[in-house]
This record gives sequence, C-alpha cells and structure tokens, in this order.
Amino acid sequence: MKTKILTLLKSSDDYISGQELCERFGVSRTAVWKVMNKLKEEGYEIQSVPNKGYRLIGQTDILSESEIVSELTTSWIARPTYFFSKTTSTNIVAKSRLEEDGKSGLLVVADEQTSGRGRRGRGWQSPKGQAIYMSLALKPDFAPEKASMLTLVMAYAVCLAIREVTGLEAAIKWPNDIVVGKRKVCGILTEMNAEPDYIHSVVIGVGINANQTEFAEEIRETATSLYLESQATVPRARLIAKSMEHFERAYEQFLKNENLAFFMETYNDLLVNRGREVVVLEPKGNYEGIAEGINESGELLVKREDGTTTEVYAGEVSVRGIYGYV
Ligand code: BTN
Repeated sequence: MKTKILTLLKSSDDYISGQELCERFGVSRTAVWKVMNKLKEEGYEIQSVPNKGYRLIGQTDILSESEIVSELTTSWIARPTYFFSKTTSTNIVAKSRLEEDGKSGLLVVADEQTSGRGRRGRGWQSPKGQAIYMSLALKPDFAPEKASMLTLVMAYAVCLAIREVTGLEAAIKWPNDIVVGKRKVCGILTEMNAEPDYIHSVVIGVGINANQTEFAEEIRETATSLYLESQATVPRARLIAKSMEHFERAYEQFLKNENLAFFMETYNDLLVNRGREVVVLEPKGNYEGIAEGINESGELLVKREDGTTTEVYAGEVSVRGIYGYV
C-alpha cells in the first residue's frame, strides 16, 4: 500500500484527502497516517493540512523499493524489484533469486555492496548512499553465444536514460562502459550460467556513478560521477526506472530477430569510439585500428592499417583509446 500511496501522491499536484485514500485503498485513517509517517521517515516532505489532506512537496534522492516501483512504467522488466540497503553483490543475489525459481526480468538493487564485482576479476567500489548498483536477471531461450549482445542492449538503455534524466551527453565506450567526456560513469558486468547450447541464467550488473563527490586514488583519473558532471543531485530511483524502460523496449526488439540491426544506427551515434584510434586488447596480442561502429551482431568493426576490417567479438576483448582510457 505504501508504494501505491506514494505513486498517487507523486501523480497529483494537489492535496489528496485522507478520506479518498481510505476509500481507494480500503484502509482506515490510522493506516493512512502510519504510511505518511513512514514516508516522512524515509525522507519525503509531505504536507498535511486539515480538511485538505496530504501533498508531496519535496524529496531528496531517496532509494527504496517503493520509490523505484513508483517510478516504473515497465510491464515485466524489473518486476519484481528487490531492494537491499546493503548486500554482497547484486549480481550474486540476482543469480540466486532467479535460480531459486524467480521470475525472468527480476531486478536487484542495493544502496551499498560489500563485495562489488568488476570485470576481469577486479572489484567495484560500492560506497553507501551515492551510486547505483543493480542487476537484472533473465532466463532467455536463445543460444549462449548471443548473450554478449545483452551487454550492448543494456549500455544503450542506460546511456539513453542518463541523457534523459541528467541532460548530459553520455556516450557508450564499447562494449561495457558509459562515459561522460573522457571519464567513466558506468560499468556493466554480464555473467552467464550456461551449458554449450542452453542458458540457465544471465545476470546483467550495472554500476552507475551517480552522486559521488570523490573517487579513490586508483580510479580518480578515469572515473567521474553524474553529479560532478552536472552539478545536480541525480534521483537514482528515476534513473533506474528509466534505464529499465529503455531496456524493456530494446530487449523486446532484440528478441524479434536476435540481432541488433534495429538499433545499430542510433547505437553507433552514441559510440564514443567511433572514428577513433583504438587498441584491441586480445589474449593473443594487442593491435591497433580505427573503430568504425558495430555490426548487427554487436561486434566492433576495426579498420586495420593494412586496409582490412576485423570484427571484434564483445565477449573476448576490450578496447581502449591509444592514448588512454577512451
Ligand atoms: C566494470 O568492471 O566496469 C563492471 C562493473 C559492474 C559493477 C556492477 S555494480 C552492480 C553489479 N554488482 C556487482 O557486483 N557488479 C555489478
């Protein structure tokens, strides 16, 4: 009921009477009063005026299950959403929730992680109350080799959401990162549990540097936050909800043909690497070239000095600029 009342308060510019709330949700005045107190405790500024009712007048950046769900407009992605004020890693929790008979599309969000995981066995710094740590768990029925495209679908969705919510010109650094200017604001870690021809689960973990004001020494040069770039506090729940909306739309398109032809052009317009010199870091050895954009399988087309074009598969390698991270 708390989420429903919150959603209603958010959708109304005017007061909503206690009577209306009681009738609409079939509860007592005391129950409504308790919900209002709970919301105030969580940080919502709610005005209550005798004979008029309740009105939401302000909120800071609140991250809770109710706040996320009250912002969501998806039909099945992020439903349900599980919220933790602290957990080990949302990727770990999302995988186990899905495999314990959870629903494909479930989302796990945390306000803090104690063992945040990054790519290539690295950690992911996950301080409390500042950033977004979320993992979407899916049980797709396509072939395992297609799963790496989901990273690109998520990067695309989050990039659009960041642009919409903050107005910043976020761009995608193929395949896993989102940057603002030359610095990273988001990293994606996709993990799959599969047999050669069958996917048990795919978890797409997303870390977004939303409201941090500083970073540890070792990432200070390459990381930034949306707050630092825009000078405005980012409403994390809204950004999560918008990311999920864009993901749902794009993922449903992807499922039609199991390729990325439907968004290739827009994706390539968002690609920071496009037209730039990149170094492809491969287990067999590094090489340089000019990144031209992705093809419909999500591979990065890299034009080499000898004039040939190599299709770089997202699952195996990463790229960086020849003079630094981008
Ligand atoms: C990277 O190395 O760039 C990927 C970082 C992914 C971090 C996110 S935070 C939410 C989810 N849970 C984790 O433990 N990792 C991912």
